[in-house]
Amino acid sequence: MKIFSGSSNKSLAEKVAKHLNLKLSPLEIFVFPDGEKRIRIKERVLDQDCVLIQSTGIPVDSNYMELFLTVDALKRSGAKSIKTVMPYFGYQRQDHIFRDGEDVSLEVIAKTLESVGVSQLFSFDLHTPKIPEIFKIPVKHLSVLPKFRNHIKKEFDLEKIVLVTPDMGGIRRIKKVSEMLNNTAFATIVKDRDLTTGQIKNSGLDGNVKNKICVIIDDMISTGNTMTDAVTLLLENEAEKVFAYATHGVLAGEASKILQNSKIERVIVSDTLEIPKEKEFAKLEVISVSEIAAKALRDL
Ligand code: R5P
Repeated sequence: MKIFSGSSNKSLAEKVAKHLNLKLSPLEIFVFPDGEKRIRIKERVLDQDCVLIQSTGIPVDSNYMELFLTVDALKRSGAKSIKTVMPYFGYQRQDHIFRDGEDVSLEVIAKTLESVGVSQLFSFDLHTPKIPEIFKIPVKHLSVLPKFRNHIKKEFDLEKIVLVTPDMGGIRRIKKVSEMLNNTAFATIVKDRDLTTGQIKNSGLDGNVKNKICVIIDDMISTGNTMTDAVTLLLENEAEKVFAYATHGVLAGEASKILQNSKIERVIVSDTLEIPKEKEFAKLEVISVSEIAAKALRDL
């Protein structure tokens, strides 16, 4: 097996390669002055099983193009298979038409991944568990939740916490984590989002959080507004403290500042996305998914 990394999350790719006792194979990513990229595979891959690790967070479009071009270069160089680990799957939220006239981004991405030549896709904590079904190629849906469970078990007295999903979309996830933690109590926030402005309005809380330590679990933090609005609501409902876990730290715009300045105690994300230095903040802790990805590749 040969393992390649795009430029989006090389530190994760290096860790995955290390777990597999491999070294990253050389790849040249040339960026033209106008931002276009050209890829060159610098190792013989003829009849080899190849793995490409590339996350598709910010800058999303550029990371996707790099992924597509790298798969194309591998295919043209004769790779036998091209397994693609896309730890964070950009464009997955627009998974259906919400309002007349919209696109379905998820389907466009799926078709493109298939047509450029991806043989199998690996991704973490997808927005909905139905996503693999829309692909014709096999999709391995991996999860960091077992790692979050271990972390929660180590950090908290389970009797004192209430798990919280910040929206109804996360209800399956929170039930799963609750089961993993001996049926720890959970609460649900009802969140409405204005589809034109993207603005969030919390319209209710189902569950009792009074004097409890709340542990919010979500799939991603983008602007941070979902998390900070949830914290406000939970504290208004007399929660003692609030912690947040999310698989993907997208951290768009001012998210890091917003979270650091909020009443949240700590924010735990995974390394499906590389957090640039300027987006690191004191309350942030990062848990690696490298072992999980390596195990999935080893078990092939
Ligand atoms: C929404 O359905 C997702 O599960 C996240 O709650 C959301 O994408 C987080 O976005 P933001 O941080 O911008 O509120």
